[in-house]
Amino acid sequence: EKGGFDHFMLKEIHEQPKAYRDTMLGRIDESGRKVVLPGLKLSDEKIRSLTSVHVIACGTAYNAGLVGGTAIEQLVRIPVMNDVASEYRYRSPLITPETLVIVVSQSGETADTLAALREAQANGAHVLAITNVVGSSIARDADDVIATLAGPEIAVASTKAYTSQLIAFYLLGLYMAQVRGTQSADDVAHVIAAMHSLPEQVESMLAQADTVKAYAEQIASHEHLFFIGRGLDYSVVQEGSLKLKEISYIHSEAYAAGELKHGTLALIEEGVPVIALATQETVLEKTVSNIKEVKARGADVMAITHEENVPDLLKSVDQALAIPKTLPLLTPALSVVPLQLLAYYAALARGNDVDKPRNLAKSVTVE
Ligand code: M6R
Repeated sequence: EKGGFDHFMLKEIHEQPKAYRDTMLGRIDESGRKVVLPGLKLSDEKIRSLTSVHVIACGTAYNAGLVGGTAIEQLVRIPVMNDVASEYRYRSPLITPETLVIVVSQSGETADTLAALREAQANGAHVLAITNVVGSSIARDADDVIATLAGPEIAVASTKAYTSQLIAFYLLGLYMAQVRGTQSADDVAHVIAAMHSLPEQVESMLAQADTVKAYAEQIASHEHLFFIGRGLDYSVVQEGSLKLKEISYIHSEAYAAGELKHGTLALIEEGVPVIALATQETVLEKTVSNIKEVKARGADVMAITHEENVPDLLKSVDQALAIPKTLPLLTPALSVVPLQLLAYYAALARGNDVDKPRNLAKSVTVE
């Protein structure tokens, strides 16, 4: 049942290339230049009338929504707000019929996310669910569903569901951009072409998992570590940090790199591991300055970046890991993979039950 892998989590990490392909299948027209979303009830007229988008979820699905929200904001130029379902549902959010509410849930059964969906519908919003389970409560109650085709996810730590959710968001963002005319046909085609390369790029990273494993064994003896990043890198490290905490039980925090000096820098001392995700070119220099800040306080820094940046970064970090290059917007679909592997191998090195971490359930159907 684990297909030759030691754990469901590792199997599911390896299933990501297939999950990307399956989630894209049938959603790109024959020309390869246009996104089609068969069965979508959200009309073009409705898409044109939208004034805001709310992206609501819990845990890893929330983290996917952070990337998804940025994708929509960049592609469609519409204001996006992200919130966790347990906050959103109780704070009388400003929802109007011109709000598109996107709920994200692997299981489709998360109680708070379902309640948020109902709150949104009661206020007249169109609710679109991104879910991996088409027969779920959330899929049934939503006005629209974009199914992620990741296949069943068994490990408590979500991996292939997260990345499939990213693919779903990219498709939705491109689709809305087509309708609202915010991206040229060539720009859309360019993103689609890059999306087609993602599965192979993930495969190439999986083939080099040993480097991550060696690093995971180094950090396994630590009790605290930090992740830093800017922009989409910040969104991705939030997922990396959650993954690490949930299965390795190492305390970690993900910080917007520029925010460290506003307090958290006080926690950096000799030998504290800091993992810096530095893939977003427009803010790379800024991230490098933040890396220097933590280095000066004795941190042991691992940078994850593109090959071309490695030589330069190695002047300011202790180790560097290169990931394949794609468009900045799509990079989260690649950069999260080493972070998933890091959590997996760190948990393994600590002798933890990787697939069934303590205190956690796969599906949280109570509030
Ligand atoms: O089924 P859902 O996507 O609604 O679940 C949401 C969270 O409970 C879930 O992502 C949780 O954070 C994972 N265990 C993280 O790996």
